[in-house]
Amino acid sequence: MKALVLCGGSGSRLRPITHTMAKQLVPIANKPVLFYGLEAISDAGIQDVGIVVGETAVEIREAVGDGSRWGLNVTYVTQEEPLGLAHAVLVSEGFLGDDDFVMYLGDNLIKDGIAGFVDQFRFNKPNSEILLAHVSMPELFGVAELEGDKVVRLVEKPSEPASDLALVGVYMFDHNVMDAVKAIKPSNRGELEITDAIQWLIDQGLNVDPHVINGWWKDTGRLEDMLEANRIVLETLEPRIDGQVDGDSEIHGRVVVEEGASIINSTVRGPAIIGERTRVENSFIGPFTSVYFDVLITGSEVEHSIILENSAITGIPGRIEGSLIGQNVQVGRSSVKPSAFRFMLGDNSRVGIP
Ligand code: DAU
Repeated sequence: MKALVLCGGSGSRLRPITHTMAKQLVPIANKPVLFYGLEAISDAGIQDVGIVVGETAVEIREAVGDGSRWGLNVTYVTQEEPLGLAHAVLVSEGFLGDDDFVMYLGDNLIKDGIAGFVDQFRFNKPNSEILLAHVSMPELFGVAELEGDKVVRLVEKPSEPASDLALVGVYMFDHNVMDAVKAIKPSNRGELEITDAIQWLIDQGLNVDPHVINGWWKDTGRLEDMLEANRIVLETLEPRIDGQVDGDSEIHGRVVVEEGASIINSTVRGPAIIGERTRVENSFIGPFTSVYFDVLITGSEVEHSIILENSAITGIPGRIEGSLIGQNVQVGRSSVKPSAFRFMLGDNSRVGIP
């Protein structure tokens, strides 16, 4: 069995962060979201992994390499344009051949991994197995309609969903899906939808097994989901202090301070993670905060946020929360007169001032 991990696409809902980085590489608890998926695939006993890459191919290759870090053998498949999830399968025909495979969306996070589902697929040998989860806003997902334990209909992002069962971004297929992705036509949004390909399998009378998952799952495509995923992963953190914490600082709860990081005259209340070489001085870092590497935080308070590398937050008078701050960002006070807010924000940035 092989795995196909989808890392193309444009990440439009996470702009401006995704103007400069792949959405699959945004860190959750200081680890790129894609790495959780690769670990889950490796834990399921799969070695041969195809990674579908588009615009951000260079970055993804640089981060993942040949996959040997996870015991994987990675092949990169280029998708020239993000023409849909089924299109990603189509362009991977050479890699997949006739093998069974698990397709994993590179921005999805499944807390309990996928080993159990993969074993079930290997054992029951349906033509496809899909994972479903109850969600509060099904219109944002592919939605399944079940009759008993049979899937009767799948619709991509319906305006009037027939159920609250969303397609999770992990799918298992045998070779029949290749006929499906060749047979379907682009949807209204111009994409070849995997949802339509699975519907095609159902219409041909092939076996599509649904499995409703109970564990926690997140599509990290939006800011709120990213912060929630961060919160949930941080709750499982094993506390560890590898950096420096001075005598005037206090650390409470599940906190990781990575090597080379320094906490000076500050309080860190976990769950929180402070990345390598990051300096926190005269500050408060509150629960559910991930600060990546080479960040400077002085005279500020931050909680329930993700701060990416090489950024600086200095002397902010109020508490920063519910925020995703990108790479090389500077948020600080300025003494330049007249006293005013001064911004240089990328396209699609969002600023909230009380
Ligand atoms: O997360 C689950 C949902 O994922 C499902 O419920 C939907 O049925 C499914 O269509 C998909 O919806 P999204 O709108 O969230 O898909 P998105 O465009 O975010 O793409 C998912 C991943 O696949 C992401 O890592 C980018 C990658 N991708 C996407 C497209 C459109 C590709 O590699 N190639 C593509 O052409």
